[in-house]
Order: sequence, then C-alpha cells, then structure tokens
Amino acid sequence: VNDEESPAGDLEARRGRVLGASYRLFYDEPIQVVRGEDVYLWDADGRRYLDAYNNVASVGHSHGEVVSALAEQAAVLNTHTRYLGAEVVEYAEDLIVTFPGSLDRVVLTCTGSEANDVAYRLAKVVTGGNGVLVTSNAYHGVTDAVAQFSPSLGPAVAPGPHVRAVRAPDTYRESTDGIGQRFAADVATAIDDLRAHGLRPAAMFIDTVLSSDGVQTGKAGYLRPVQEVLQSAGVLLVADEVQAGFGRTGHMWGFERHGLEPDLVTLGKPMGNGHPIGGLVGRSELMDEFGRTARYFNTYGGNTVSAAVGRAVLRVIRRQGLVDNSAAVGTYLRSRLRDLQSRQPVIGQVRGEGLFVGLEIVDADGRADGDRAGHLVNGLRHRGVLVNTTGPHANVLKVRPPLTFSAAHADVLADALEEALLEDFKRS
Ligand SMILES: Cc1ncc(COP(=O)(O)O)c(C=O)c1O
Repeated sequence: VNDEESPAGDLEARRGRVLGASYRLFYDEPIQVVRGEDVYLWDADGRRYLDAYNNVASVGHSHGEVVSALAEQAAVLNTHTRYLGAEVVEYAEDLIVTFPGSLDRVVLTCTGSEANDVAYRLAKVVTGGNGVLVTSNAYHGVTDAVAQFSPSLGPAVAPGPHVRAVRAPDTYRESTDGIGQRFAADVATAIDDLRAHGLRPAAMFIDTVLSSDGVQTGKAGYLRPVQEVLQSAGVLLVADEVQAGFGRTGHMWGFERHGLEPDLVTLGKPMGNGHPIGGLVGRSELMDEFGRTARYFNTYGGNTVSAAVGRAVLRVIRRQGLVDNSAAVGTYLRSRLRDLQSRQPVIGQVRGEGLFVGLEIVDADGRADGDRAGHLVNGLRHRGVLVNTTGPHANVLKVRPPLTFSAAHADVLADALEEALLEDFKRS
C-alpha cells in the first residue's frame, strides 16, 4: 500500500473516500499510471512498466491511428443510430467479414456486459426458455441478469435459480483425452437438471479461452463435444469473445480454434482499444426474429465516433499483422516459460494460445498455490513488469499483453519472472 504521505498514497485515500469499497486496486503497491504507449505504461514518478496484462489496449496503448480516427470523427460529428450514417454501416460491414458467413448481423453496444445481456434477452425470445448454462468460475459481466450467471463474482452475488454452473475443464488436472467428453457430459446433466426443475434451457455462454476459469485453452477442438450436446438439446451457444476476440489467440476469434459454430458471439474490450465498444454478432434468422418484436436502440452503441474507432482498430490489426504476431510471439513466450518451468517446479503448467498465457502455480503436491502466485505478481510489478492472476484459486498467472508484444519483450518478462521466483524462494 502506498504511503499516505506520498502523492500516490494521498490519491489512494481520496479515491477510497469518493469511490468506496466496491472498487479494487491491483498490486500491493498500487500504481498511478499517467501515460501509455504501445506495450509500456508510465507512473507518476516517470517509471516505465512493461504491460503484459492489458487486452483492452490490444493494438498498443494510445495507438496513433486509433487516436486520430477518434479525434477526427469527434471534430466532425458524433450521433446515434436513429440517423442514417455511413460510418456505422461501414464498420458493421468490416466487422462481419471477419466472421464465418453464417454470422451475418451485428448489434452494437458499449460494453461486453451489455452484449451478453442482449444475447440473453435474444436467447429467451427465440427459445422461449430462460435457463442458462455457464462454466463454474465464469465471468460475463455486470448487469443484474448477467451477474446472475457470473459465478466468479463470488457468493455475495447469488446465481439465479435458472442458472447452472458446470464444472469447468481443468486442463492441468484432467486428462487431455477425456476432458472435452467429461465437460460435455456435465453440460448434458445440467440441461436435464434444468428441465427436471421445469425450466427450459435457453443458452450456454462460454468464454472461448475460459479466462476466469484459469485460462483453460486446452487442445484445439476440445469444446466441440459441448456444442453437439447443445445443438441436440436446442440450446443456443453464445461464444463470449470479450477476452479471446480480435486476434488474441493467434486466430481472429477464439471459437475458430475449437471449430465451433456459435449461434451468437459477444464482443468487447479490445474492440475499441480502450474506447467503450461492444457488440453482438449472430445468425440473421435469430437476430431478425428478435428484432421483429423488440426495438433496439442504444444511445451510445454504434455512435459515429465509436464506429470510426472500431474501424481503425480492425485496420491496424490487419495492417500490422497482429493476429500472426500474436501466434508467433505467443509460441516463443511459452517456449521461454517452459524452459523456466524445467528449472522451477512451482510452475506446474504453461498453457495458452497466442498471446493469452496461463501459468499454473502449484505447491510441492501440485495443489493450487494462490499465495505464491500473488507474491510473483507483486515481485514482477516491483521489477517493472505487469501481469495478474486468475482462476478459482487465483493461482494462475495471467499473461495477456498488447498484441504488439515482441520476442524481446517476452525475454524481459521471462527473465523478470525467473528473478521474482528466486526472490520468492528466499522469502519462503
Ligand atoms: C469474458 C468476459 N465477458 C464479459 C465481460 C464484461 O465486459 P465489460 O466489462 O465490458 O462489461 C468481461 C469483462 O471482464 C469478460 O472478461
């Protein structure tokens, strides 16, 4: 915690007074960030940090082309979708071509939560049910409806009676061969259980990297059996791409890696590189059925400036080859981390896809070691490298840098982690 006498400590105290208890800060000594550029953040004292955590500024902090698109459009016009405007249409066209042909309609929101909320409304309309399936430590957002199917919010937010949280795959502890079948069988049981309680299942929401379940990227295709169960039960599959989307996994979309054909796809975070844009993409027959009965207007969703920003982000991803960079640098980063793992058995597993990497931190018996993971996060922070933890036991180091990360940055991260591990052994 920052010293109260210091400027950062004073700001922390003032923040606590006005923002209150529901806001949390990262790190034992919170950082006052004042500037960002590409993969770097600077604090108020001018110290530079390598950002290996932010998937929002996914094409790099303060990217010039995105900032210019925002400023130039804001200087001309910013209005909403009740007027005919070329910008939002062009953005929707640019976005849709990145999806398989069957996913051909888009609805724009401001956040990932809103996108999941609209997806849930739509699923209720087209299936006539309200049952929802999610993974056991899922996070899908903040609205009342969505929080009820976000079990990672903890026991204070009770899951709705219409929600079934299915034990998430644990790619460290379960066998690679059986994991997809086991997960699919549990989803089938949960569907039966909803029906046994007189509830009709409407949708399953799956974060296609299972980020909050501990970055359970697993073997490509292991989520296919779940899709088969959902299809035969008439339950919609919503691929939540708020974490996995826009090139993060070395594929444009996380669902592609598993060969999934989702009914709906929800988008957020990297979509605007820091500007609040979210969206829902889906099959026209579903989207149009919803649209016939429900008018959709979102004051800011699809506004002219957001559309210009969204287009710029797509352009930058394409022009800078960021999907391929994510795949190549992610592979290199994991090879460096696996080398470290061979010397440091507290790293039980190095997993991930593209630039979404999870390191399972374990004790001598292979049990989740959240304390050590927390120490490592802070050890890295004090060495100028930013990561965080995830998973139900907060023992998985989550490494998820901007997609412009290079092999040289990966080396800095791996070297700093080795130092943090050595220091942590001295402590324990
Ligand atoms: C998988 C996933 N879905 C949805 C959301 C909600 O997005 P937002 O914070 O933009 O509402 C998040 C945010 O962390 C997320 O990780």
